Amino acid sequence: MCGIFAYLNFNVSRERRYILEVLFNGLRRLEYRGYDSAGISIDSSSYSGSDLNRQIFTPPLVFRQEGNIESLVKSVYQDVDATDLNLEESFSIHAGIAHTRWATHGEPAPRNSHPQTSDAGNEFLVVHNGVVTNYEVLKETLVRHGFTFESETDTEVIPKLAKFVFDKANEEGDQSVTFSQVVIEVMRHLEGAYALIFKSRHYPNELIACKRGSPLLLGVKELAEEAGIGASFNDTKFLSSNGQPKELFLSSDANALVEHTKKVLVVEDGEVVHLKDGGVSILKFDQAKGKRGGTLSRPASVQRALSILEMEVEQINKGKYEHYMQKEIHEQPESLTTTMRGRLIRGGSCKAKTVLLGGLKDHLKTIRRSRRIVFIGCGTSYNAALAARPILEELSGIPVTMEIASDLLDRQGPIYREDTAVLVSQSGETADTLNALEYALENGALCVGITNTVGSAIARKTHCGVHINAGAEIGVASTKAYTSQIVVMAMLALAIGGDLISSQERREAVIDGLFDLPSKLKEVLKLDQEMKDLAKLLIAEQSLLVFGRGYNYATALEGALKVKEVALMHSEGILAGEMKHGPLALVDETLPIFVIATRDACFSKQQSVIQQLHARKGRLIVMCTKGDAASVCVGGSCRVIEVPQAEDCLQPVINIVPLQLLAYHLTVLRGHNVDQPRNLAKSVTTQ
Ligand code: AGP
Repeated sequence: MCGIFAYLNFNVSRERRYILEVLFNGLRRLEYRGYDSAGISIDSSSYSGSDLNRQIFTPPLVFRQEGNIESLVKSVYQDVDATDLNLEESFSIHAGIAHTRWATHGEPAPRNSHPQTSDAGNEFLVVHNGVVTNYEVLKETLVRHGFTFESETDTEVIPKLAKFVFDKANEEGDQSVTFSQVVIEVMRHLEGAYALIFKSRHYPNELIACKRGSPLLLGVKELAEEAGIGASFNDTKFLSSNGQPKELFLSSDANALVEHTKKVLVVEDGEVVHLKDGGVSILKFDQAKGKRGGTLSRPASVQRALSILEMEVEQINKGKYEHYMQKEIHEQPESLTTTMRGRLIRGGSCKAKTVLLGGLKDHLKTIRRSRRIVFIGCGTSYNAALAARPILEELSGIPVTMEIASDLLDRQGPIYREDTAVLVSQSGETADTLNALEYALENGALCVGITNTVGSAIARKTHCGVHINAGAEIGVASTKAYTSQIVVMAMLALAIGGDLISSQERREAVIDGLFDLPSKLKEVLKLDQEMKDLAKLLIAEQSLLVFGRGYNYATALEGALKVKEVALMHSEGILAGEMKHGPLALVDETLPIFVIATRDACFSKQQSVIQQLHARKGRLIVMCTKGDAASVCVGGSCRVIEVPQAEDCLQPVINIVPLQLLAYHLTVLRGHNVDQPRNLAKSVTTQ
């Protein structure tokens, strides 16, 4: 998982300094996707259109650096100073590419950073998000043809393969081989998942992007229109090579585009996007169509429409907050409101309260007839599904099983035609979940997607689904997506159980509970200072156990995941019912234990757990419903966190917030990077 970005200005003069800053800002917006090394490529000189021959032989400049984006920025400006590169030099056309990396093949180091190159002369340069699974075979072949490799990456085979294809076409007398023909021939040999952007000194001022599996967007900014000269929005005009000044962007996601333009095209698998002469042509890669008569194939172009991004720049800024995680925790009352908007219907007194999930309405009957519902996800998304499982079982009467995506694949667990598989993923591009989706599709299950990313692979490949609409989540630790996922799955339970008279009262109580959630979240967020004070007490601890059960077993797992993921402190979520079967051995007067004991059917069992922990001198922090402090804390001997009460099945949405705040404050106090935890990245697009 990495971030790729490109910027091409056409018929509009841009200084090298400006181009560099656009590329750096693009990378800053994508940094959450990977932040252990980064790189860019820009042109070395600007030339007039009549001097194309000279351009062909001028190698592009490449800058690569280990560390985060700011390390790259610093090193580029140092190199610029050392080489006297003119930052004021203007380019009326220029194509730059950029990459931020999460290392999979090879340690973070400049040689393993992207752009990866074909040769010392940078004839072909590539930035890549994804994994080339057959790179070893390709590498062996290329080595046999005299290529030498300098990195340990899977990516390096791609530019080398492009050079091989280009040289071969020229040797065979095809001097007119186009950039897109070269790239399509390269794609023919690649296996795995990728989004790629190619730059070449043989095709100056052109860029090619293509994808299979990994996400990629094109952004179009027509400058004549901005100045009021251009006409109305028209897809064909925007994509044609009409000579109008424009800026074109390619990016792994919308975050890096929205500050430039809202006009985007979500590139589909197998499409090849060719930016040339200010125009965009989109070609369809067809694995079946290879070389014809020794020459490379020329695929036909396809028509695609631009769409408008429903996103504001403010959504991707930190605003008044210091960190994205902090902002995303605090915006949960609003994100939940957006998640529920237009989906909950609470009419007058005679009108029943219902849920409308547009994306599911044609499939509800099939889901109701399923023999089983299988929740599939990873990390926080799995935990959210686990939190929603009891209410789905209760309202639907259908057995619900849980699958961690990688484990389902490892076991090749049984999935049947009569199953409904619900794939839960914030990013919609997690490789394990995506592979589990393919597996469920192959086995004939109805597949429902629950994601936060419109146009993501999981959103596109499932039969139907629900968007959680939580807004962009940039902190690597998932917070607001978790609560929105639970709410969406509670609404899913309501929709599936919608025709059962016997549970109507319960359904209406849950709907009322959903309406009340945003105000209760505002209330629980007031615990911020209290959780900061608690974090101060725990700052030097090695470990934290979190006990939960019933609806809040998921809260225990998710709270512990947050603490270990960002605060880098060992933390374990424990099913309280399992306490006596092992975990009790850990209890002494030093180890902090967080017990979730809010009011629900398991409350008295949790009271008993607290007593047993107390009897073993456990160092307890108890989360309870407001007013219950005396019932959970024997003789005032433990620290109590009181939270507002919600409908029992929705209580996990409230209860996770103090744990999110605790993880956040622990991280800041321990001096770790909150938004970019060590070794992690936001979406895990490799297995
Ligand atoms: C959450 O805090 C984690 N970063 C991680 O567990 C995440 O939830 C997991 O990788 C799944 O991601 P997804 O929801 O985008 O599929």
